Amino acid sequence: MDVAGRNIVVTGGGNGIGAALCRAFAKAGAAHVVVSDRDGDAASQIAEEIGGTAIACDVSEESSVQQLVQDSLSVCGHIDVFFSNAGITCKGGLECANEDWQRMWDVNVMSRLYAARAVVPHMLERGEGYLVHTASAAGVLTEIGSASYSVTKHADVAMAEWLSVCYGRQGIRVSCVCPLGVQTGFLDNDDPIHRYLHLHVITPDEVADSVITGMQEEQFLILPHPEVAEYFSMKTDDHDRWIRGMQRLRQKLTREQKKREAA
Ligand SMILES: NC(=O)c1ccc[n+]([C@@H]2O[C@H](COP(=O)([O-])OP(=O)(O)OC[C@H]3O[C@@H](n4cnc5c(N)ncnc54)[C@H](O)[C@@H]3O)[C@@H](O)[C@H]2O)c1
Repeated sequence: MDVAGRNIVVTGGGNGIGAALCRAFAKAGAAHVVVSDRDGDAASQIAEEIGGTAIACDVSEESSVQQLVQDSLSVCGHIDVFFSNAGITCKGGLECANEDWQRMWDVNVMSRLYAARAVVPHMLERGEGYLVHTASAAGVLTEIGSASYSVTKHADVAMAEWLSVCYGRQGIRVSCVCPLGVQTGFLDNDDPIHRYLHLHVITPDEVADSVITGMQEEQFLILPHPEVAEYFSMKTDDHDRWIRGMQRLRQKLTREQKKREAA
């Protein structure tokens, strides 16, 4: 799908990758971009910059997502692309509180269900539409430093796959964007895993360029870091070998972190 002339809603559009997507869609000639974010001020700033419409929405609440879809339909008439980009992270493993896991589940996974539930019926009526998720390379590989991020991003990819399998033949395209490190407020320089991701860091604008090309080609997996395709294929070729490799990487990063803390 060419985004020119299309009505596009982007969640988490107030900052980082979402803001870059909104700018790129506007530049590529989108008919209208709805910039949505929990942070209404951030959404308004980007909307003002690109001549779009800001709509505040907390994607972890179904009523808020339903309202976003209703309001976007009132503004644009119809929605061609719903881009579920908003996401959060939470460091840690088994020790993480159940409330943190629940928040991760609500923002990174349930939001995608709420969006699809609200928007798919309209898209089916029109015979076409496009759902895009910003998942993560952690959704096809893993994120050593965050169990809840790895699990919820896998679920995000699974939701996108399921949507594509079930609605693809009825005109609904689905893509899933899976970047490694991207230079946004998301990356924490004090975190050893995030420091490792810096080896692969790209800008939000580079992600947006890759998304526009991936959507033109209607690729399911959009990989702004081409190396992710290679890592994913190494994983599926020999899962046990891949896990052993990741165990070694974790050990190396843990040792480096201990040395850093001791220094
Ligand atoms: N930055 C990276 O290295 C990286 C890598 C892979 C995937 N991602 C994914 O990219 C997406 C965007 O992340 P980013 O790096 O641009 O982060 P960011 O923190 O710069 O921007 C995220 C935006 O989402 C908004 N948001 C958070 N919770 C929300 C909620 N409940 N409802 C509505 N909006 C909410 C925030 O206000 C913010 O504007 C996320 O899904 C993230 O998991 C990021």
